[in-house]
Order: sequence, then structure tokens, then C-alpha cells
Amino acid sequence: MHWLYEANPAGPCQLWVAEEMGTGRIVATRPVFPWRVRVGHREVLVAQAGDAMTHPEFRRRGVFTSLVQVVWSELRDQGVPFSFSFSNAGALSVYRKTAVGQGSRAGTHEVLWFRRLVYPLSWRLILGRTPAIGGLITGLDLPRRVFPRRRLTLPKHLSVFRVDRFDREFDDLWIRTAQQYGVLTVRDSRYLNWRFMDPPTGAFQVLGLRTQGELVGYIAFEVDAQGNGWIADLFGLPNPEIVAALLRASLGAMLEMGCATASILVATDNPFVRVIRDVGFFQRADRFPMAVHVYRDGVDAETALDARRWWAWYGDRDVERLAKHP
Ligand SMILES: CC(C)(COP(=O)(O)OP(=O)(O)OC[C@H]1O[C@@H](n2cnc3c(N)ncnc32)[C@H](O)[C@@H]1OP(=O)(O)O)[C@@H](O)C(=O)NCCC(=O)NCCS
Repeated sequence: MHWLYEANPAGPCQLWVAEEMGTGRIVATRPVFPWRVRVGHREVLVAQAGDAMTHPEFRRRGVFTSLVQVVWSELRDQGVPFSFSFSNAGALSVYRKTAVGQGSRAGTHEVLWFRRLVYPLSWRLILGRTPAIGGLITGLDLPRRVFPRRRLTLPKHLSVFRVDRFDREFDDLWIRTAQQYGVLTVRDSRYLNWRFMDPPTGAFQVLGLRTQGELVGYIAFEVDAQGNGWIADLFGLPNPEIVAALLRASLGAMLEMGCATASILVATDNPFVRVIRDVGFFQRADRFPMAVHVYRDGVDAETALDARRWWAWYGDRDVERLAKHP
């Protein structure tokens, strides 16, 4: 709680609640987390809406609708151009009916659709989960383990290192690289340490990538209790060789850690979907949205509603551990 609600370097949570008249009992909550994003060439303070809840006894009476109306109006009055959320169908249905703000773009838009792509690292471990088949297939796993290792080799001019703490080298990468993107979370060391190093349940695994001594990207992932890897974030020079190398580096590390599969949740409009598939990930059926809630029409909203301009990964979501959620 402290990590998300108070320690966020973009600022503490704005927590809105609905109370029952008379008893003062809290019956619904609408937290809003400040979020620093870069939109075009400017840094803008927006918000991520998450963790909303209405007490089960008070549902379907319009409590959440009223709360959202109040909070969205407040954000508009604070000058926040838009917020975004990884919402479920129930919350989205309310948001769609709650347009607050001026201009034709005001309101909720499902801008990004995330899909899960999976890379099988070890058939022995995957099939071991279905014991009857697993027994037969064990011997077949050896070539599979050797094969990916060869495919995961990086070009000689790239070197991988483990990141224990994001420092000025990462600030420098951000400064050098950010202008090549449209709209994205500000990935400076302050944010990255909070997001991937300081969660109370433990740090993510992070690998950095250098070429000729210069940092060109990083990738962050976690491993869940079942031994599956989940890629949370990757960032660097927006070029296919760097993206492929980051993915391969993380797959190699997961293989060493004994993971069975690696998953990445990718926005379908991400320009590197093809690269991710070429590395060997294949698509699963699940699909869920990231919505943008516009309060002030203008150039910020226009950019944020263009799916092709977003650089968003599942690590942008306001939850500490990602593997539990998709
Ligand atoms: C999603 C959630 C916050 C909605 O809270 P809520 O207070 O029930 O929301 P509302 O009553 O304002 O609206 C819910 C629905 O009831 C309808 N409704 C509103 N007033 C109503 C009334 N008097 N009678 C019947 N239905 C009503 C709304 O139109 C809405 O319908 P829809 O689902 O077709 O859009 C609540 O279901 C919840 O806590 N779910 C579990 C946690 C969760 O999923 N949180 C969101 C995380 S992203």
C-alpha cells in the first residue's frame, strides 16, 4: 500500500471515497495515481486510475458512477488533460457513460489492446504439469533446451549486464532517446527504481544492454511462483535489433533460472510486434484494453488517443506484481 499510495515519485495517491450518510462508513473508493508521462516533447503530469471498488452491498446503485463524475471533474479542474487505466469491463462500462470535460475528444476511449505472447522455454517443464504426457516427452526436451540457447545468442557488438539499481546512465538513456517516442511514462531513474527495484515484494530482474560502452536499452521481468517469466517493460533505442536483443537476453536469463515459459503483454499497435514474433513468441487469445479518459481536448489528448504513438507495456500498470493480473 505504502509503495503505490505514498512512495510513487510522481506524488501521493489522490484517494476519493464515498461515505454512507449517517454512519460515515466508506462504501466506495476511487484512487487516482499521479503519473508522469512524456507527450510529444513535453513532460505532463497525468494520472492512472486503478484499485476502484464499491462495497458489494452498495453495488448497482450508481455510487461508483457518482464518484467517478466527481473525480473526473476534479481532475479536469486541476488541468489534467487525461488519465488512463487498465480497467475491467464493469468499470469501463461506467466510464463510458461518464464524459466530463470539453471538446469532441472528451470521454473514455479504449486506445490500446494488449495481447499476451508466449515463448515456450522448456517443454519438459510445461508438459511436466500434465504428468501423463510429461513422462513421455522428457527425453525430447534436451534439443529444445539447446536450440533456444543458440537462437538466443546476441550479436558480438552488444553486451548484457545485470542492473541492481537504475542510475545516471539510465537518465542519460532517457534524455537521449525519449524524443523518438510519442507518449510514454517518463522512464528516468527515479521512476524506474520505484517501479522495478523498490516494490516491497521484491525487485524485478533487470538487464541492461550496451554497445561500445554505451547503454542502449534495458528489459525488466519477473518470475512467478509457477516458474513462468513475465516481461514487464523494455525501453531503449527504438530499433528492431535492440528490441530483439533485449528479448533474447531476458529469455536467456529466464532459461538459466529454470523458467518454463516467458510471456509478454503487448499492445497490438506496438511497432515491434513483428520483431517479438520473429524472436519466437506466439500469440494467445486473451485481450484486454488500456483506456484513456480525456478531460481536456487538445494536442495532448490527440496524441494520447493515437494508439501507434504509445509506448506502453504491462509494467506501466499500477500494480506491484504483474504476473497475478493478466
Ligand atoms: C466496478 C464497480 C466499482 C462498480 O461499482 P458500482 O457502485 O456498482 O457502480 P454503479 O452502480 O455506478 O454502476 C454499475 C452498473 O449499475 C448500473 N446502475 C446504476 N445505478 C443503478 C440503479 N439504481 N439500479 C440498478 N443499476 C444501476 C449502472 O448503470 C451500471 O450498469 P452497467 O454495468 O451496465 O454499466 C463494482 O462492481 C466493484 O467494486 N467491482 C469489483 C472491483 C472492481 O472490479 N473494480 C474495478 C477495477 S478496474
